Amino acid sequence: MKTLVRKASRDSLRGAAQILRGGGLVAFPTETVYGLGARAFDANAVKRVYRAKGRPSDNPLIVHVNGFPMLLTVARRVTPLARKLIKAFWPGPLTLIFDKNPALPSAVTAGGLTVAVRCPGHPVARALIRSLGEPIAAPSANRSGRPSPTSAQHVLDDLNGRIALIIDGGACRVGLESTIVDARGRRPVLLRPGAISARRIATAARARMAAPGKSAPPAPGIRHRHYAPSCRVVLITPDELRNGRIPVLRAGDGLIHRSPWTGPHPAFARRVTGGVNAYAKSLFKSLRDAEAAGLRRVFVETVDEKGRGQAIMDRLGRAASR
Ligand code: TXA
Ligand code: MG
Repeated sequence: MKTLVRKASRDSLRGAAQILRGGGLVAFPTETVYGLGARAFDANAVKRVYRAKGRPSDNPLIVHVNGFPMLLTVARRVTPLARKLIKAFWPGPLTLIFDKNPALPSAVTAGGLTVAVRCPGHPVARALIRSLGEPIAAPSANRSGRPSPTSAQHVLDDLNGRIALIIDGGACRVGLESTIVDARGRRPVLLRPGAISARRIATAARARMAAPGKSAPPAPGIRHRHYAPSCRVVLITPDELRNGRIPVLRAGDGLIHRSPWTGPHPAFARRVTGGVNAYAKSLFKSLRDAEAAGLRRVFVETVDEKGRGQAIMDRLGRAASR
């Protein structure tokens, strides 16, 4: 299969909707990361998503909708807590868990009785859902286990020849995936830290955040090794960096950092100034670039687990685990 890359336009979006209607797969930009979309109500198309990504079949997908009426076609029940969070954060990078509407194919939810739904804020994602007129099931558009894609090129690098079309909407603004919250009860349960901080969720919910318990296990995807570039990832603190305490910088070593580093210049270095959100935005790209540079090992500076920092550290922890 030839994979086309087309700039987002009225024409390319009309073509994309046609492909989706025919059961094909289309990658598209969202404000978080690129998604790999299929028509949610087409079970065969949804199965193709798992195949194209090499995704384990026990890891459910997120359904993308353009608002409340469309939500009701995939969810069975919307709690007062969920309504509050929708009001505060949709459209935006918040995914909520609902009881699944029986009409939705079970391939979307990996056989589960709950469904994850998000209403993206990106104009191209919104236009695509509107053009199809139906919900789109879409995980991140990377090969399973790779860092999420934040540009059309990343999608092409992972999925060339496996999908029909990539809509190019430029680099993603946030660069980290959505926050996933189970709001089926009275208190929000954080299943995956993401673009919106846990604190902002709790404030909007006017309720303390509950930790995932037996009744609400963390997002299944979190069990799998994730965000793993092919080179080894070693985390270092800002203090270690400022004091020049990186164990060794040999040939084949690289550095992704925010704080100044005055030691020997590594073959590969990416310094990101401009705060934690800028660091988040470029993180997956930096990891992919480090890999493409053929590094053996990349040192990555940690951040405080505040605001978006919690999601950054979650992803870095996974990338570094082996
Ligand atoms: O920002 C995002 O959320 C991006 C864009 C494309 O929307 N999507 C994304 O999808 O990150 P994906 O498939 O890479 O991650 C979805 C996560 C997985 O960890 C999955 O296990 C979890 O959501 N998930 C999906 N359905 C769930 C459910 N019913 N209950 C709990 N977790 C669920
Ligand atoms: Mg993913």
